[in-house]
Amino acid sequence: MGAPGFDVERIRKDFPILARELPGGRPLVYLDSGNSSQKPTQVIETMRDHLAWHYGNVGRALHVLGSESTDAYEAARDKVAAFVSAPSRDEIVFTKNASEALNLVAYAFGNPIGEDERFRIGPGDEIVISEMEHHSNIVPWQLLAQRTGATLRWFPVTDEGRLDIERLDELVNERTKIVSIVHQSNVLGTVNSISPILARVREVGALMMVDASQSVPHQPVDVTELGVDFVAFTGHKMVGPSGIGVLWGRRELLDAMPPFLGGGEMIEAVWMDHSTYAPVPHKFEAGTPPIVEAIGLGAAVDYLTAVGMDQIKAHEKELVAYALEALREVPGLRIIGPRTAIARGGTVSFTLEGIHPHDVGQILDDVYGIAVRVGHHCARPLHLRFGIPATTRASFYLYNTTAEIDALVRGLHHVQKVFG
Ligand code: ALA
Repeated sequence: MGAPGFDVERIRKDFPILARELPGGRPLVYLDSGNSSQKPTQVIETMRDHLAWHYGNVGRALHVLGSESTDAYEAARDKVAAFVSAPSRDEIVFTKNASEALNLVAYAFGNPIGEDERFRIGPGDEIVISEMEHHSNIVPWQLLAQRTGATLRWFPVTDEGRLDIERLDELVNERTKIVSIVHQSNVLGTVNSISPILARVREVGALMMVDASQSVPHQPVDVTELGVDFVAFTGHKMVGPSGIGVLWGRRELLDAMPPFLGGGEMIEAVWMDHSTYAPVPHKFEAGTPPIVEAIGLGAAVDYLTAVGMDQIKAHEKELVAYALEALREVPGLRIIGPRTAIARGGTVSFTLEGIHPHDVGQILDDVYGIAVRVGHHCARPLHLRFGIPATTRASFYLYNTTAEIDALVRGLHHVQKVFG
């Protein structure tokens, strides 16, 4: 199987952990990449090499190591900018994770430091999200609404697990200041069509943000083509390390926004009673940044680019189509999300009648070495929408195989036997 030139067995060899045996000699079946992906040797070695031979602080150390580290850190910014086709490298802000990127943008609204009309918000203004958001794209907007008296509204989700935009014109209106929507749901796998929402956002003069944490790792994402104002994603889900995330934003908006955190290197000049700020992106990178993590993310981007994002997307589409078919064989299994491989990514969440997801996950792990995620996956409102407290979630990536999906199906049959 697979797209031409895509060799999953060769790719698997790049990920040392996939060869690991778990206690009792069980081979590892890693189906939890939506949670955090595994890392290839190329990323591990780049980070190790930097720490061993080049490490110094960035932007402030005038010695060989400082300059080598600064060059590598800024080269990572160039790589990330090219990866998502950002018009300018200065539009790439390194954050700790996608949550920080989302919070950074939410903080810019209703902030007395900002003077820009587009970020002014108060009672009577509206913020629009959706019912399928991860908590990181809900809570920052709740905090903004609480802080400013603005109203939080949301798109509902259909029974099939698609975004319901039937009431688009009513939900996004002249009172709307910002719309923030997930690109690919971390639970349903649904890939949302951004363009109809964006067209309405432009009509009413609001801003739009996309949480691309689950799409940038799995499909080509071109921020210019997407056409929105801000995009957030994270390194650890795209074969890079944890501790590094990305905010892409339009330059003129980033320029207009107030700093998020204050500290070293985000300033131009400091007096005892006020400061002026460095140009973007540094205005948003206070303190010593995650240096080696950014460099590791650069290596991750090199790795994914070499494999080919189109190839990765095609491979995952085959995997999810195979999984959706194979899971039909399991009695009492209910998929939460689209049941066809159309406009959806490689994440499949489900319930097993009469068996709690925690029990499912534990048996899969204990008996078969299969790592899945169980719980509400930081999307509690979405689970409430479907009337369930939790699901079991299998999420696939470039290194997964159909044999691993077969193992999952066998494991689920075993779980059912254990629970009678
Ligand atoms: N957002 C991550 C997940 O879906 C942590 O598992």
